[in-house]
Amino acid sequence: MKAIGICGSPREGNTETYIKKVLSQLSQADHDTIYLPLRLLNIAPCEGCYQCVKEGRCVIEDDFQAVFKHMTEADCLVVGSPVYNGSITPKLKALLDRAGFSARWMKNALETSDDNYQWGKMVFSGKLFAPITVARKTGQTFALAQLMLWAQVNDLITVGSNYWTVGTAGTSGSINADEDAEGMSIMSHLAENLNFLMERIG
Ligand SMILES: Cc1cc2nc3c(=O)[nH]c(=O)nc-3n(C[C@H](O)[C@H](O)[C@H](O)COP(=O)(O)O)c2cc1C
Repeated sequence: MKAIGICGSPREGNTETYIKKVLSQLSQADHDTIYLPLRLLNIAPCEGCYQCVKEGRCVIEDDFQAVFKHMTEADCLVVGSPVYNGSITPKLKALLDRAGFSARWMKNALETSDDNYQWGKMVFSGKLFAPITVARKTGQTFALAQLMLWAQVNDLITVGSNYWTVGTAGTSGSINADEDAEGMSIMSHLAENLNFLMERIG
């Protein structure tokens, strides 16, 4: 099956290390994996134009279109973010805002503008979702909850591990995730859980 890793960090940092740990284990278990660092991509924020409701797609033309295609083709999304002021990063938020509405309106339509919403399946329905957040000191679980809430409203299935799937980093932007033995073992168990489920779904 296919797993993609989406990293919301603007640098090659700790979040990347944790995501790559999960992807490398899934790759060893014979799944196709793709790593998508948002730092290299141009993804504008949602403009609230609601063209997705009419056209079933996001009309802003930038790197979102390629990332969204990968997201729709994947069976499993591993999504990680550093914690910035207690939150996921703006670029990841931009991607998730646009991806969620696109996935919803590709599969749902309003008969008239006065209709109540009656949701059916969405593009992400049934895909596995593995959230990861990283901070120096605190805010990981709040940002993790942001990711889990996005997954829940978009009909994905969130997969956990033997502890919250969060990492810690050192001071002044240290890149030392590989020294976080507990964090790395939590990510390893997350990959085992994802593999367990993908083997049964696939
Ligand atoms: C603008 C900014 C805001 C940050 N806010 C927090 C925070 O709220 N809590 C925290 O513990 N660390 C905070 N940090 C530290 C980062 O979360 C930490 O360095 C993390 O490793 C960054 O992920 P990365 O290595 O993948 O880039 C912040 C760092 C930056 C640059």
